[in-house]
Amino acid sequence: MKASPHLISDESFIDVPKRLRHLLAELIGAAADDVFLGNSASWGLQVLANGLPWREGDEVLVMADDFPATVFPWFVIRRYGARVRQLDISQPVPTPEVLERQISARTRVVCLSWVWSLTGHVIDIPALAEVCLSRRVHLVVNATQGLGALPFDVQSTSVAAVTCSGFKWLCGPYATGFAWIDPEVRESMHPTQAYWLALPDDIALDLNREGQHRQREELGARAYDVFGTANFLNFLPWSASVSYLLTETIDAIAAHDRALVGRLIDGVADTAYRVISPTDPDHRAAIVVVTAGEERANAGLHQLLAEAGVDAALRGGNLRLSPHLYNTADDIDRAVAVIRSHDRLPKHRIG
Ligand SMILES: Cc1ncc(COP(=O)(O)O)c(C=O)c1O
Repeated sequence: MKASPHLISDESFIDVPKRLRHLLAELIGAAADDVFLGNSASWGLQVLANGLPWREGDEVLVMADDFPATVFPWFVIRRYGARVRQLDISQPVPTPEVLERQISARTRVVCLSWVWSLTGHVIDIPALAEVCLSRRVHLVVNATQGLGALPFDVQSTSVAAVTCSGFKWLCGPYATGFAWIDPEVRESMHPTQAYWLALPDDIALDLNREGQHRQREELGARAYDVFGTANFLNFLPWSASVSYLLTETIDAIAAHDRALVGRLIDGVADTAYRVISPTDPDHRAAIVVVTAGEERANAGLHQLLAEAGVDAALRGGNLRLSPHLYNTADDIDRAVAVIRSHDRLPKHRIG
């Protein structure tokens, strides 16, 4: 397209982001007008951090050990006299009871990752959303490590906003993401930006002669789109991925991933490796974190897996395996075989 620019029509500047917005909205059961496009999970959070109407002394509650992308974007609220309170809890993820106790009169937002990337623990979104609703606090969820592998519908819980990277379970290229903000919450926000290509649907596009230059107020969530919305190189392949996920259905993909995860957990059950992630099918995601209890041994196994062509991640000193729709039972068996062979090595050779 770059070599033959006539292949890039003026209309595609509108149609490419529009199609992606609709696909992402379908994925989470939302209206397309309530979804905006980003380049990361952080994008949606920074929009909220800069757009929500803060008052002096307000606070955002986050977990101290949550993934940094869930925490960092909020730090800018200092400039509005608000602050981030980081909570240290002794549990893998906050329960409704813990949250209930920790929400203070100053708390305006609670922001949490849906699935913990270092352990695979999953928060109970509906229960936490209920607590937040009863305290008139916005629950904002970073869905990056869940969406695409687990079903999610914004209609079924009272979350205030959801943000998500596109390059994990949604199989997009790097530098993709999106967010959804409940329309009532969005109504309360200040505009944070104005972009010439953020146009209402009913404006016929003339890229160079749009007429009057004024801040547009009738844009819905797309007012918060990351600039460069016709990001062909990233958004066309990401649209193809999301469309494919929707065609296969997230329920079917979740069942497939669940079976692979179960096979993996069973395969390592009687080894010296300990599964850190939840093993109960009702409380786990598609992330399986295992450890030999010692970082060097984990690093050694990571190396062996790589040599066997198994892509695992070494995260926080532990091994993370994340099977998804492109994996098969054979892939899992191959990983399990390597893990089991490593398990049998004499202790002094491990690592
Ligand atoms: C929970 C979680 N959120 C977000 C990200 C990425 O953040 P961003 O898209 O803002 O760069 C990751 C991984 O990279 C993650 O594991």
